[in-house]
Amino acid sequence: TQHFIVIGNPIAHSKSPKIHTLFAAQTGMDISYQRQYCPNDADSFTAVVEAFFYGGGVGANVTVPFKQIAYAFCAARGGLSAHAKIAGAVNTLLLNKALLDKGVPLAEAIYGDNTDGQGLVNHIKSLNWPLTCARVAIIGAGGAVRGIILPLIESGIATVTIANRTVSKAVELVEELSTASTVIDEQQIKTCSTAELEGSFDIIINATSIGLSDDKLPLSHDLNCQYAYDLMYGRPLPFLQHFEARGAQTSDGYGMLIGQAALSFERWTGHRIDVTKATEDLNKS
Ligand code: ATR
Repeated sequence: TQHFIVIGNPIAHSKSPKIHTLFAAQTGMDISYQRQYCPNDADSFTAVVEAFFYGGGVGANVTVPFKQIAYAFCAARGGLSAHAKIAGAVNTLLLNKALLDKGVPLAEAIYGDNTDGQGLVNHIKSLNWPLTCARVAIIGAGGAVRGIILPLIESGIATVTIANRTVSKAVELVEELSTASTVIDEQQIKTCSTAELEGSFDIIINATSIGLSDDKLPLSHDLNCQYAYDLMYGRPLPFLQHFEARGAQTSDGYGMLIGQAALSFERWTGHRIDVTKATEDLNKS
């Protein structure tokens, strides 16, 4: 049996054990995947992660509020993938085999990746929404945007507009990301306030945390899109309802959740997941 965990706080409602158990069934693997509660501080996170890997664990997912803590942890240990670096956050932990082979102690070989953004891109592709040459608008300028921007640009989109309630945060984010990555070109990204976002886009993505509140985004009447995506899931989303009423195709972020999980599973085990089939099976169960 190979052991996996998801570390979070709170963690009781995590869907990851169910999703990964289904992946294991799909690939004929014998795994255990548990929810791991952790007190909300960096020392406790370190203790939990070290105990897990010294106990023979193969891989761990990291969720709220530990993704940034995991980033700092891996930066000082076994390293970070390019996607984790740009995201400033880690959602997948594994051991860096190259370092272990060199005789580096296990605790110093824990490596961080981030599969959230690629999970989104894979889900959008599976919906057959066109990404190549797409004009994309993203609303938000927080951690969620950091996590998705590089995979979106790598997927071949034409332009991105980042709109945020606080415009200065969007401007700073673009400056920071274009400095940190050679793939992210400042010229390709516009910024504005959410209310100023106007015109026609192929895809609009809501990457704010507004779905958790009763607030509504101040969306312009002159804002249109063919496809609207909300990173949130599990509740009715006013953002999607707004664009559905205007004739757009819409999706919530449940497919992204499964997509990021599938990529973590593939990193850990080398087995590929049929995400469309897994999603159907999860919907049935
Ligand atoms: P996350 O990690 O989910 O991105 P975050 O870093 O706190 O969380 O960022 C939250 C994002 O949602 C921000 O873009 C925030 O806008 P501000 O930068 O102006 O704060 C946006 N957001 C949160 N609540 C909002 C609201 N009620 N109306 C509009 N935007 C909101």
